[in-house]
Amino acid sequence: MDVTKPGPLTNPTLELIAQRSSTRTYDPAPLTDDERQAILHAALRAPTGGNMVLYSIIEVEEQALKERLAVACDDQPFIATAPWVLVFAADWQKWTDLFAVSDVEAVDATDHRTHTGPGDLFLACADAIIAAQTAVIAAESLGIGSCYIGDIIENGEEVAGLLHLPPHTFPAAMVCFGRPRKRRAPIGRYGRGLVHRDRYRRRTGVEAAEVVRELAELHAPSGLPEGVANYAQAVYRRKFASAFMAEMNRSATWWLERWTSGGR
Ligand SMILES: Cc1cc2nc3c(=O)[nH]c(=O)nc-3n(C[C@H](O)[C@H](O)[C@H](O)COP(=O)(O)O)c2cc1C
Repeated sequence: MDVTKPGPLTNPTLELIAQRSSTRTYDPAPLTDDERQAILHAALRAPTGGNMVLYSIIEVEEQALKERLAVACDDQPFIATAPWVLVFAADWQKWTDLFAVSDVEAVDATDHRTHTGPGDLFLACADAIIAAQTAVIAAESLGIGSCYIGDIIENGEEVAGLLHLPPHTFPAAMVCFGRPRKRRAPIGRYGRGLVHRDRYRRRTGVEAAEVVRELAELHAPSGLPEGVANYAQAVYRRKFASAFMAEMNRSATWWLERWTSGGR
């Protein structure tokens, strides 16, 4: 089965998903209250672990704050031009605060009222990101484009300060929203080997080399950047060995330490 193709079934929802692409140039007109409500309601209706809604959404409205975030997020000025910016924060703090006023007693060796572990973080991140993607699709259905900003993980100390994020929170996703100035056609995705049956099967060296060739055909049809011999070298330089990735990993360690220690 070739999952890069939609197959014979189609409906408006599937078409919307297939046609979506990230939007980075926005009509400056603000979203209406009705649009914001529809999108936020859709986010809230997303699945959530134990129906606990383990995330909070911060609407970033202040222009100065958007501009600070644009710089903190690997200096991406387009962020500050988006009429609506949402941060989806994994949030265990809201529950620890509820425990604090509810005579909750520790029932095992770990006092979960004050100690949140990496498992709690992973679950809350899943909640936050699923809500974010539901908002993205809801927005798309209203003609409103969006773009995720993964760099919100960077410069954790500054971002936590700017958004007043308490210790048991983590900005799992930031998404810019706005009406696209220009619609972009969906870009190609490499899908071969995406789906495994029953068990994970690692590619052989020969298969991996073939994938590198196919990726170049798909994503760099007019040629590779100077100084690289293949597509994997280009990606390694641009993404994995970049300054922003070093900062993201440094900052992620800080977020994790803060989450698990409760900021102590
Ligand atoms: C986790 C995540 C982080 C991303 N971070 C950024 C970002 O910081 N800046 C940006 O311009 N796009 C960002 N994007 C958008 C991707 O670049 C985009 O989804 C990808 O190139 C595929 O394009 P498409 O969304 O148009 O299909 C991010 C997307 C995801 C899912």
